[in-house]
Amino acid sequence: MSNENFIWGVATAAHQIEGAWLEGGKGLNTWDVFSHTPGKIANGDTSAVACDHYHRYEEDIELMAQLGVKGYRFSIAWSRILPQGKGAVNEEGIAFYNKLIDGLLAKGITPFITLYHWDLPATLQFENDGWLSYETAEYFAEYADVCFKAFGDRVKHWMTFNENWCSAVLGHGIGCFAPGRVSRTEPYIAAHNLCLAHGLTVQKFRQGDWGVIGIANNCDFREPLTDKPEDKAAAQEALEFFYGWLTDPVVFGEYPAIMVERLGDRLPKFTPEQKEMLKGSCDFLGLNHYTTHFASREKPTANLVGGDEGNGGIDEDQQVFLSRDPDWLQTSNGWFVVPWGIRKMLNWVYERYNQLPIYVTENGCCVADNDEKSAISDGFRADFIRGYTEAVVQAREEDGVDVRGYFGWTLMDNFEWAKGYEMRFGMIFCNFDTLERTPKESYYAYQEIIRNR
Ligand code: BGC
Repeated sequence: MSNENFIWGVATAAHQIEGAWLEGGKGLNTWDVFSHTPGKIANGDTSAVACDHYHRYEEDIELMAQLGVKGYRFSIAWSRILPQGKGAVNEEGIAFYNKLIDGLLAKGITPFITLYHWDLPATLQFENDGWLSYETAEYFAEYADVCFKAFGDRVKHWMTFNENWCSAVLGHGIGCFAPGRVSRTEPYIAAHNLCLAHGLTVQKFRQGDWGVIGIANNCDFREPLTDKPEDKAAAQEALEFFYGWLTDPVVFGEYPAIMVERLGDRLPKFTPEQKEMLKGSCDFLGLNHYTTHFASREKPTANLVGGDEGNGGIDEDQQVFLSRDPDWLQTSNGWFVVPWGIRKMLNWVYERYNQLPIYVTENGCCVADNDEKSAISDGFRADFIRGYTEAVVQAREEDGVDVRGYFGWTLMDNFEWAKGYEMRFGMIFCNFDTLERTPKESYYAYQEIIRNR
């Protein structure tokens, strides 16, 4: 495949970089509330200022231009556009994203917008129970429509959601993410409404002429621990419980059969009309990918990862054990560095979803280091990027997977959700006291990859 329709980019998310939490007419969102709740975020950090990108976006665009990326994936903060999540539009919010979009285009950088990266307007949580209610899906589609009409003349690449797995499992199952719910059934209800919100939104999108739309779901790869049929089945099912759960509905209009079988009444059902609406509702698929594990049906005798009960999704609903190769390198937050995993993952997605085009919408690694001098010598991250981008190119050029782009996570160190500012994923060091940005070794490594490709 030629390089013509392949784009190198970087990704960020509004809530992780913007700050200005009480400025520009923005309403509060669930992460504002969560991050100001004592005990929820490491070191008592809050997202109030983050990287102050709201005021420093021009400098950040310049840093991207110097890096040489041709694409930038960012998210819109719903509560900047609609402070209450519904009703009145905040023109200051529209103006901010207009300046950002125009600034990117002036530098030849194509904007890729994610409409939702976890920052639900707080009003919708308090009044509607957030994603546990179908009404939130309807409000989301209305918000999305405001964005299409405001930005769709210049933005032609859209994603409805970022990582619905995290919203469902971390937000409603484990409770370590906003809104902090702990339940065995709510993840499935939240996921159901998120899928329906995608469908309702795409219906509106297709009434206009605003380009292409997809979804950015995440998945770690699951490699069978052995060649035994039961381990192959365990790996396949684990992928279906992870990526398939949130992606099958928006491509096929159905949940994976294994989930229907295992979960019984705990898995909500789509009506025939909803199935029709959801089927074929993605023009492309986004893949956020960070790590790989071995999967097996029986508990492995060594190198177990996660709990004794099995792991890999909503733990007890999967009969899968995860393990690792002791030689794999590990990032600061314990994720394994396995570049071949992304190549296999891309092949899996491509095959399962009937050869829809794919973008790697996130991939990166965390190196915790608050000392600027040592942090900018991030050879570990530079190697990570070299390894993973090479594997993506192999998937494209050798395996024929129609992967159209790679967005490194992330442009600069930012508010890493429940881990606060400690877990740094950036190619640019952000000093959170002075807000000064300093490119790291990985920034220059990525710049060279882009130049050579
Ligand atoms: C999310 C990002 C996050 C990154 C690293 C992804 O799950 O989309 O917001 O910062 O992983 O944890």
